[in-house]
Amino acid sequence: MTTEQLISFARGAPSLDIVDVEGLKAAAVRAFEADPAGITAYGTSVGYPPLRKWIADKHGVSVDQVLVTNGSLQADAFLFDYLVQSGDAVVVERPTYDRTLLNLRNKGGQVHQVTIQPDGVDTDELRKLLESGVRPKLAHIIPNYQNPAGVTLSLEKRRALLDLAGEYGFTIFEDDPYADIRFRGEALPSMLSMDDKGVVVHASSFTKTVCPGVRVGYLVGPATLIAGIAKRATNLYISPGMVAQAIVHEFCVSGDIDRSIQTVSTALGERASLLATALREHIPGVRFTEPDGGYFLWIELPEGVSADKVFTAAAERGVAVVKGSDFLLEGGEGALRLAFSAVTVDQIEEGVRRLAAAVEAVRG
Ligand SMILES: Cc1ncc(COP(=O)(O)O)c(C=O)c1O
Repeated sequence: MTTEQLISFARGAPSLDIVDVEGLKAAAVRAFEADPAGITAYGTSVGYPPLRKWIADKHGVSVDQVLVTNGSLQADAFLFDYLVQSGDAVVVERPTYDRTLLNLRNKGGQVHQVTIQPDGVDTDELRKLLESGVRPKLAHIIPNYQNPAGVTLSLEKRRALLDLAGEYGFTIFEDDPYADIRFRGEALPSMLSMDDKGVVVHASSFTKTVCPGVRVGYLVGPATLIAGIAKRATNLYISPGMVAQAIVHEFCVSGDIDRSIQTVSTALGERASLLATALREHIPGVRFTEPDGGYFLWIELPEGVSADKVFTAAAERGVAVVKGSDFLLEGGEGALRLAFSAVTVDQIEEGVRRLAAAVEAVRG
């Protein structure tokens, strides 16, 4: 093991220098001053009412369509518990967020992975799957700056997915924590905002725009579904953490959130660009699609190089990456996910040099 400082391309979380700690401290003081009774009580399972309202306004929906949770992973878990029974078919992207795969498999879901292309999930492949008789309960889609592939679902494909969901009667689960972290191009409308059939349930989070430690995420969907999930949430934990939600609410209404999004997007845009340049320079034969936003870059290693072996060789050289195979039911042996969110600018070049040395060592 190296004595050098570990450089982590593994963590999908913002580095401390881009978290607005002072803004959060001030928001906490304002939250306790503004509503001491509200935030020190249990509260309600649908979340801190003023934050629930803020989220409803952001998405142009009514408040009874919003449930605020302890992070969006909990929103995912609630939805899976509510909709998916053991043996049900579900569609996810290939590759997809590893915890989604794990949670759906733990629920006993029959998971079908549909290929991701540079403009998002392959909707022709999905149509063929549906035509073959598979009837999924839901399709889990990460539309913007996908984790782990970094790609964005095109407008055309958003429309195609909505049509397929209407035609075949499944829920689109739009898992969208990265939407606001855009450093290039135009924002595309969410499928939630395009949906006129009530087939979309949307989740998002303050993890990637504020910080993960607040553990505040949310679900937006049809009011009946939200009410059903809220009932289960009451039985599970009475209510989510009101203090954290009130802090996030103050952070949002003061406009600090907009500055935070700007800070994170600018920093990550710079890091992504430096990472891409360093990869091209130091690892000949590596292939990737440069993301327009988000936290991740997915690389295909040069032909014949094992990602498993590179993972170990990289760890020995003090650089952490995630194996591509973690995001697939099978395959991915030649791919790695690199997060550029937790590394600072001065670590990127050195991190890629170490990774390049690991690739060389594996190539022999
Ligand atoms: C696609 C996706 N969904 C959900 C989550 C969970 O985020 P949270 O911290 O809001 O629970 C992540 C975190 O990396 C993610 O990438």
